[in-house]
Amino acid sequence: MPASPTATPEHIKDVNTRYHDAAAHEYDAKWGIDFGDIGQDQVRQKLVKALGGGDGQTFDAALEIGSGTGYFSLNLVQLGLIGKLTATDISPGMLAQLATTAKALGLESVDTVVTEAETLPFEDESFDLVLGHAVLHHIPDLGRAFAEFKRVLRPSGSIVFAGEPSRYGDRLAALPKRGGMLVAPVWRRLVGARGRAVAEVDQSEGHSLEGEVDVHAFAPADLRRLLERAGFDDRRVGGEELLANAWGWGLRTVESSAEPDSVPLRWRRFAFQSYIALQKVDTRLLEPHLPAELFYNLLVSARKPA
Ligand SMILES: C[S@@+](CC[C@H](N)C(=O)[O-])C[C@H]1O[C@@H](n2cnc3c(N)ncnc32)[C@H](O)[C@@H]1O
Repeated sequence: MPASPTATPEHIKDVNTRYHDAAAHEYDAKWGIDFGDIGQDQVRQKLVKALGGGDGQTFDAALEIGSGTGYFSLNLVQLGLIGKLTATDISPGMLAQLATTAKALGLESVDTVVTEAETLPFEDESFDLVLGHAVLHHIPDLGRAFAEFKRVLRPSGSIVFAGEPSRYGDRLAALPKRGGMLVAPVWRRLVGARGRAVAEVDQSEGHSLEGEVDVHAFAPADLRRLLERAGFDDRRVGGEELLANAWGWGLRTVESSAEPDSVPLRWRRFAFQSYIALQKVDTRLLEPHLPAELFYNLLVSARKPA
């Protein structure tokens, strides 16, 4: 459910900060975020898809917007595709989690800065890459944000955003969510999981804010327009994940109906592996042939003129 159309930008940013601060600790487990080979391979593929090729292209200084716990950028640093990373987010809690993970992974070239995307506290022309994953749809004034991305990029620098919900994909995701709710009681019995104490979930701050954090779902043309208005060249918009996302939403829905510690490890392993397998089917068979708007996630890239 998106934020109310009458919500002010300040309210949306405040809700995003509180929601993500509350979610930070459990975020990686909830979304199956991986910092090993699988996670690195996922983000490498996203970067290549967004850029339309260029596997192995490296960026000396990168700025991430809405870094969260570091899924996109820390994996790219581990792969050696980013040299120095400045990770930013409106939520101090998410960035604290990112800093802990960076330290545990032994990554030294990582700074964190708490800031929102529409006003960036950086000098003009400071970065070779501005990137983000699943963040644009939370930002109230995207025209302002894209102008900032361009300002802080060096000439010929690139922007890459992935994981943005497409309008059509967002509607499609409602089906597996509904299906997941229907089969959840049977699923719990089959895997031996305990039903979740609903009152506890409903009372948590994160749960009550969940419906207010999203501001946009995009058609590919919306993103192309934003890039063009901000004055970027070499604009690309693509789509990814259809089967994997439908399956993923179904899995998350049934799992969220159970007490987390009662979901068997064997099930969690199956869920993760089946999701990864469907991602491969999407990448190899569907993404090259179907139009971008059909997919759940959109990826964009562009270049600042030289
Ligand atoms: C869906 S999470 C994605 C996190 C991470 N990029 C990932 O893919 O796992 C969105 C992130 O954007 C941040 N965010 C929301 N609104 C923002 C804004 N206006 N400026 C900067 N970051 C924002 C949130 O705090 C959150 O960490």
